[in-house]
Amino acid sequence: MELGGKVAVVTGGANGIGRACAARFVAEGARVVVADLDGDATAAAAEEIGALGIATDVSVEADIVHLVAETERRLGPIDLFHSNAGIAVGGGVEAPDEEWQRIWDVNLMAHVYATRAVLPAMLDRGEGYLLSTASAAGLLTNIGAAPYSVTKHAAVALAEWLSVTYGDQGIKVSCLCPQGVATNMLLGGPRDAGQSVVQAAAGVLQPDEVADAVVEGLRAERFLILPHPEVAEYFQRKANDYDRWLGGMRRLQARVRGSR
Ligand SMILES: NC(=O)c1ccc[n+]([C@@H]2O[C@H](COP(=O)([O-])OP(=O)(O)OC[C@H]3O[C@@H](n4cnc5c(N)ncnc54)[C@H](O)[C@@H]3O)[C@@H](O)[C@H]2O)c1
Repeated sequence: MELGGKVAVVTGGANGIGRACAARFVAEGARVVVADLDGDATAAAAEEIGALGIATDVSVEADIVHLVAETERRLGPIDLFHSNAGIAVGGGVEAPDEEWQRIWDVNLMAHVYATRAVLPAMLDRGEGYLLSTASAAGLLTNIGAAPYSVTKHAAVALAEWLSVTYGDQGIKVSCLCPQGVATNMLLGGPRDAGQSVVQAAAGVLQPDEVADAVVEGLRAERFLILPHPEVAEYFQRKANDYDRWLGGMRRLQARVRGSR
């Protein structure tokens, strides 16, 4: 997809990866809506980028319905919906149910709500693009963070299912799976030693570098967008020999424990 003249919505667009993508989409000539939690921050980010801002909690279906209706009313049919907002919750299965539910609602159900809201009109037109931000944690795993790994796997699974189901009806689907990116989530959020080891090894990217990879991936209409190309190799190793890969990950986890 070429972005010139297209209408694009980016959730979680007030900060980090979403903000960088929204700014790049504007630079490519798209008309962009930035959706994020806080009304003032959303409006400020949108103004700086040259986009429209609509306050939205993506974990609330009615908010997504409103976002889509408002975008269509003000800009016309949505060509690209970038479901990008996400949160991190660390810990294992002992994490409280409320935390599991909170991350499930943002990292997975928001993508379901967005698809429900935009897909019917896209199918009627015979075209449309669904882009979701998952994570390398959705293809591999994130040491020390079960809720994050599990919900990101679910996000990848949904994108994959949508591509299989609607790919022959004009619907394009891409799934963005970065490793470390220098954003509030990585630098300001709850950090895990495993994450830092993996990210140090892989190299932390700037949000603008991720936006470059996204625009290139959209242009090529590639399903997996991997700003860290080494993730493709790790994913391949996992598929080639799952048990060997698990052994390697256990060794990595042991190193992480040793460094704590
Ligand atoms: N930073 C990384 O290392 C990294 C790596 C892989 C994947 N990701 C994914 O990239 C996406 C963007 O994260 P980021 O790193 O830019 O983080 P960020 O914290 O800088 O930005 C996330 C944005 O999402 C918004 N948001 C959170 N909950 C929301 C909700 N319920 N409704 C609307 N907006 C909400 C936040 O207000 C924030 O503006 C997330 O899905 C994240 O899981 C990040």
